[in-house]
Amino acid sequence: QTIYLKDYTPFGYIIDAVDLTFRLDPTATRVISRLSLRPNPEASDPCFFLHGEDLKLISAKIDGQDIAPRLIEGGLEADVPNAPFVWETEVEINPQANTALEGLYMSNGMYCTQCEAQGFRKITYYPDRPDVMSVFTVRIEGNTDTTPQLLSNGNKVETGALSNSDAQFAVWHDPWPKPAYLFALVAGDLVAHQDSIVTMSGKTVQLAIWVRPGDENKCSFGMDALKKSMRWDEDVYGREYDLDEFNIVAVDDFNMGAMENKGLNIFNSSCVLASAETSTDANFERIEAIIAHEYFHNWTGNRITCRDWFQLCLKEGLTVFRDHQFTADERSAPVARIDNVLALRARQFPEDQGPLSHPVRPESFQEINNFYTATVYEKGAEVIGMLKTLVGDAAYAKALDLYFDRHDGDAATIEDWLKVFQDSTGRDLSQFKRWYSQSGTPQVTVREDYDGDTFTLHMSQSTAPSTEQPNKLPQVIPVAVGLLDDAGNEILPTQVLELDQDEKSFSFSGMSARPTPSILRNFSAPVMLTQEGGNSRRAFLLAHDTDPFNRWEAGRMLARASLVDSITTGSAPNPDYLSGLVAVLSDTTLDPAYRALMFGQPTQSELAGILHESSTAPDPQAIHDASETLRAAKAETLADMLPDLYAQNQVTGPFSPDAEAVGKRALANAALALLSRQDGGATAALQYQNSDNMTQQLAALAALLDVGAGDDHLAAFEAQWSHDRLVMDKWFSLQIMQAKPEDVADTTRRLTLHADFDMKNPNRFRAVMGALSMHHAGFHHDGGAAYTLLTDWLIKLDPLNPQTTARMCSAFQTWTRYDAGRQALLRAQLERLVATPNLSRDTSEMITRILG
Ligand code: ARG
Ligand code: ZN
Repeated sequence: QTIYLKDYTPFGYIIDAVDLTFRLDPTATRVISRLSLRPNPEASDPCFFLHGEDLKLISAKIDGQDIAPRLIEGGLEADVPNAPFVWETEVEINPQANTALEGLYMSNGMYCTQCEAQGFRKITYYPDRPDVMSVFTVRIEGNTDTTPQLLSNGNKVETGALSNSDAQFAVWHDPWPKPAYLFALVAGDLVAHQDSIVTMSGKTVQLAIWVRPGDENKCSFGMDALKKSMRWDEDVYGREYDLDEFNIVAVDDFNMGAMENKGLNIFNSSCVLASAETSTDANFERIEAIIAHEYFHNWTGNRITCRDWFQLCLKEGLTVFRDHQFTADERSAPVARIDNVLALRARQFPEDQGPLSHPVRPESFQEINNFYTATVYEKGAEVIGMLKTLVGDAAYAKALDLYFDRHDGDAATIEDWLKVFQDSTGRDLSQFKRWYSQSGTPQVTVREDYDGDTFTLHMSQSTAPSTEQPNKLPQVIPVAVGLLDDAGNEILPTQVLELDQDEKSFSFSGMSARPTPSILRNFSAPVMLTQEGGNSRRAFLLAHDTDPFNRWEAGRMLARASLVDSITTGSAPNPDYLSGLVAVLSDTTLDPAYRALMFGQPTQSELAGILHESSTAPDPQAIHDASETLRAAKAETLADMLPDLYAQNQVTGPFSPDAEAVGKRALANAALALLSRQDGGATAALQYQNSDNMTQQLAALAALLDVGAGDDHLAAFEAQWSHDRLVMDKWFSLQIMQAKPEDVADTTRRLTLHADFDMKNPNRFRAVMGALSMHHAGFHHDGGAAYTLLTDWLIKLDPLNPQTTARMCSAFQTWTRYDAGRQALLRAQLERLVATPNLSRDTSEMITRILG
């Protein structure tokens, strides 16, 4: 069944208060719900329908009188008074049997919840939609030994022992009206890492990160990140926290990264637990960003929520944009921007250029969980960034103040959001709105003209048609441009040009010589750019561009061109790229983190996408070989400087994941990977032996495996870390990532037989199956063994956990890029999957869309 944006109607009733009582039991939890309702004067449909799934109804009452509601598909209906009334139900649920990890479930003996988007209906009968907001009071009763800690949203108002048994209770009250998707409950044997903060108005807030005993030494980094986030939101957006306490819980079994439940954020333990010994620098950075993201949701998501799930980007795009700003402020802004663009190109571009393409605000869905996508999140954030670029920083700040002012307490829409900007800036945003409604990645082409005085940029845009949108209209594309002279001096600082028609020209007069343009600085719009000048232009910009993003981009484009040439014509790596790289890497005035990024080269799947765009069916093995050849050429060209780069970027003193130390380790480890090809892994073996942190240990292990010298270390690593689930996830992934293409499927199959492979744990399943699908040449290796293997496991997981299964299906989204032989193999697996009896709605929607 498909749900449409255009069909929105408000719920017929207003809920003034919600009282919930939970009597926890692993297999038979009782949930008693008491709702104070009245007819909604703004609604026309008086139908009283409550969502409910997998619930055993014990009783239902209206104003204290037992009634018999009609149980129907997906919920219940009842005849209710046309006046205020009290609705009560008691249901029984089975948290232990809940492997889908939606609603109330158990993870390692701990009770926890995940309600976004539609999990609350698995807890009790309720209008489970984000525009129904209410004030919740929650009483939890649980066994004192197994659930010494009882947590829910808001402030804790009462605790006590239950008279007749070894049980206790806690009552939580959340004064802020909220939709059901922000409800949370956690109960278990947990210990807290505690702290407190004084907010901008002088209120003290108690902070706690709750973890299983043994993990309490992995919380201090997360706590610092939380405090920084709270301060940042006060300083930059003027937003203060609004409860007496803020709790975070780490949970091992979790479908996504984390969840912003009001006052009780629940995190995948991989996104909050951190220690030098067990976490890489990339883990630390990710944890900092996700803590910030969930905290920022308190205003963008919770205080102002979404009217319906089509508006998901209202909270997610804005909150991702805010967490990107936070990272840019806390660490290096250019490095953060490059990281964001790398992620956008790796995840959003393939989505927007394949069968799963959808607008930032979709107009229909079957299963909303399938729309927590890179398009809604990352492109959604890019759209906010473009808006800010177009109106300017001051106008953006003013508009945001108006947004918080006008919509606090609302369940809002994209129309509301844009109207705030229109009202506060006077700018007409009707064309800009196409960024929300039109799918696909715009292609921008720039031609140049110079007549001895005037330099002109002729820009054009086009977006490939899609089935639902055969005619794409021109969008408002902010193109940031600077001009350089022959010596690399900036003669025109960055200006934002607005390309808002199919074609538009921009002229710069008074140019005594032909300048070199630097176009799309800081990646000012999520588009693909084609421009003049070829490799010599790229080499010039790599050497001289004053915009750090475009300087990096020039190197990336040189590498990309070199690889595409090697793949299609067998030519050797481009010497201009290699010499340009030497120059940049030897420039010690450049930030090590930035230089480390310069070491990178386009991923194999990115290259496959580029080839497909130019109407060549990508050959995964040829792409793999060309990538390896380029790496080998780099190792050789840089041979003389690698030992120095490695030595000069060693970090001494106690471990710290600050930006400077992280940058140095990244640069040294990038050097190590190539150095190992020269010394057979001798340096890496030494680093492995001496390292006191996971970044160094894992980089050394990867380098050793890369040169075929890591088997003993792999075994030692397993022996050292077999007690730590999060570290073992790395052990599982790395072996697949480092396997030769022809060995990837077998390595994966062997690992699924390992005693610690647990398909019910999403982190472990993704560590193995995600690595399989991300190894481009291995996944697409001749014969299709990897396709079959992944499909086998998706079929096994689907009945247990539809959400994680459906997400992993995106591994197949690029299937039409490949040759007829591979397409036939892929299609056969997709058809086998979709023909599986009782396939979940989640997975069947994904496969149907992918098949097209
Ligand atoms: N709102 C969460 C976040 O972005 C994501 C939760 C998504 N969960 C889901 N089952 N779709 O932080
Ligand atoms: Zn979010």
